[in-house]
Amino acid sequence: MDELQRKLGVLNPDWLMSSREKLSLIGVLHTLKPKKVLEFGYHRGGATQWLSMLSDQVITVDVNEFVLDAENEYQNVEAWRCSTLEAIEKINDQKLFFDLTIIDADHTREAVSNDINGVLQSSDIILMHDSFNPACRKGMITSLKKQQTHAYYLDFMPSLNKHDGLWGGLAIAWKSDKPGQRKEFKSEYSPFTPIVTHHFLRISPYLQSLKIKILTLLNITTNKLRIGVGKILGR
Ligand SMILES: C[S@@+](CC[C@H](N)C(=O)[O-])C[C@H]1O[C@@H](n2cnc3c(N)ncnc32)[C@H](O)[C@@H]1O
Repeated sequence: MDELQRKLGVLNPDWLMSSREKLSLIGVLHTLKPKKVLEFGYHRGGATQWLSMLSDQVITVDVNEFVLDAENEYQNVEAWRCSTLEAIEKINDQKLFFDLTIIDADHTREAVSNDINGVLQSSDIILMHDSFNPACRKGMITSLKKQQTHAYYLDFMPSLNKHDGLWGGLAIAWKSDKPGQRKEFKSEYSPFTPIVTHHFLRISPYLQSLKIKILTLLNITTNKLRIGVGKILGR
């Protein structure tokens, strides 16, 4: 996939999104042409580079020190090194408004929910990463189902089972006169439940660890046998 990502111009190991998520974000930026963008979760700026290129002004927020590099790299990016909770206070104090907000910071249920609650009034479109992680998704649902300003779609960009667990996926919310959950197609069936079920029923990791245990046991037994036979033969 590196080859494909290179061809598409999105290869960047520091950008923690799948090919489809990267292209989805770039697509939204191209069509929306946002003036102001807010990013929660800079990491190493993989997404920020594109936000800077395809919008007028970006505020990116992260607790890690790397976020400060953003201001040197991009003229239209303001870096806030603070928690998202502190950023939310600042956004409310300054009455800022964003055409697009990306939520990808702390991935606990509570934090995702607080981040969304915190930006709802100050954002038109909100993209939420890791909608296929059960805790993140619960956080998204907790905040989105009780608000009255945005419509939302949890499976805007679905994800897959990965070697490191259930990560990825993009949910989207947008300011709407008809708030609430949306689906794109009639009788659409979300792939989330089958993917989670498959993840928890997967036997390959257990088979792999069983194989390692059996091989280790065989190795130990063979060595003991060799030593025993050696002793009997007086070697
Ligand atoms: C998954 S990474 C973000 C990836 C990035 N959006 C990308 O596409 O490459 C999550 C980032 O959120 C930051 N973070 C975690 N909890 C945070 C919090 N409460 N406030 C601000 N940043 C936080 C971490 O330091 C980390 O850099």
